[in-house]
Amino acid sequence: MTGNPSVSPWDELPIRDELRGKSPYGAPQLDVPVRLNTNENPYPLPEPLVERIAERVAEAARQLNRYPDRDAVELRTELARYLSRTAGLAVGPEQVWAANGSNEVLQQLLQTFGGPGRTAIGFEPSYSMHALISCSTGTGWISGPRNDDFTIDVGAACQVIAERKPDVVFITSPNNPTGTAVGAETVLALYEAAQAAKPSLVVVDEAYAEFSHRPSLLPLIEGRPRLVLSRTMSKAFGAAGLRLGYLAAHPAVVDAVQLVRLPYHLSAVTQATALAALEHTDTLLGYVDALKTERDRLVRELRALGCDVTDSDANFVQFGRFEDAHAAWQTLLDHGVLVRDNGVPGRLRVTAGTPTENDAFLDAVRELMKEKSA
Ligand SMILES: Cc1ncc(COP(=O)(O)O)c(C=O)c1O
Repeated sequence: MTGNPSVSPWDELPIRDELRGKSPYGAPQLDVPVRLNTNENPYPLPEPLVERIAERVAEAARQLNRYPDRDAVELRTELARYLSRTAGLAVGPEQVWAANGSNEVLQQLLQTFGGPGRTAIGFEPSYSMHALISCSTGTGWISGPRNDDFTIDVGAACQVIAERKPDVVFITSPNNPTGTAVGAETVLALYEAAQAAKPSLVVVDEAYAEFSHRPSLLPLIEGRPRLVLSRTMSKAFGAAGLRLGYLAAHPAVVDAVQLVRLPYHLSAVTQATALAALEHTDTLLGYVDALKTERDRLVRELRALGCDVTDSDANFVQFGRFEDAHAAWQTLLDHGVLVRDNGVPGRLRVTAGTPTENDAFLDAVRELMKEKSA
């Protein structure tokens, strides 16, 4: 490797052309008193659940000489039960698939339905990993439009789908980083446009569904074999460290992703931990109500402080406007509060934390607004 600092060590690696010059996903993991930058749930798992996890993991540990259940049947049965109980449609395990975080679910979908010579579209600003995983799977990325208020312009979206004929369409609801949710009518219009154009796979990313004022879009999968719903236990279940995401779709989609999933991709420890968490669903979802209340308080108080705030259906809030969003991000950090600069001009995103964390954040914004008007 070269010692010349102006030459990247990558320059001498036979790295794929489309990855050259790209940056890895990287929300900063900084050690500051108040971390509200990655849309995690601020509440640690309750102690009875921690004990139950220890029990179930101990059971699994006694068989770690064996590969795990490759099809994760017990876990998929419990995820299906959870969706059937909370998301408005009875689904069975044959309609559910699980992986290491919904990012892996999305990767498996793109490996199966995208790839070289194919394209995917998302309506930006949206979750940056849709574009990044598209790139890493060799899928071309199309950046679709949003209105100035960050809602999806259905007419414009259908038009770009008709013109560009993508193989995969991402609809993120509630959308990250804006917090904007869509109704069933929007998904149906985009699904129809995508079927007329190709037909293509439509993926509704519902990572934040449990925080929304709107019902889940799950019922729409019925009778629509190319509509997939993606979910995660990282947010509402407060288990980002677990790495467990899942999808619900027609059983044929679940069968299709078997072609690309690595054998035994979901460890026995992960399956055991997720099953323990699902036993405590009601307690965990109790925190969701507290977070929604805090999210609504953040919206109100940020507006009272003079910020321009996007309505939110998620566990985070997009706010601005700042002439220099990155400088505003730095000022908040200087006050001990880490939020996210997603690169949306003039805006930042804050995750709803505990009431104490949110108070610290609002105090920091108060200081920021004073400096801004000084
Ligand atoms: C919209 C959206 N989808 C998916 C994910 C990925 O979540 P995980 O891989 O933790 O399930 C995130 C994480 O922030 C997200 O914001």
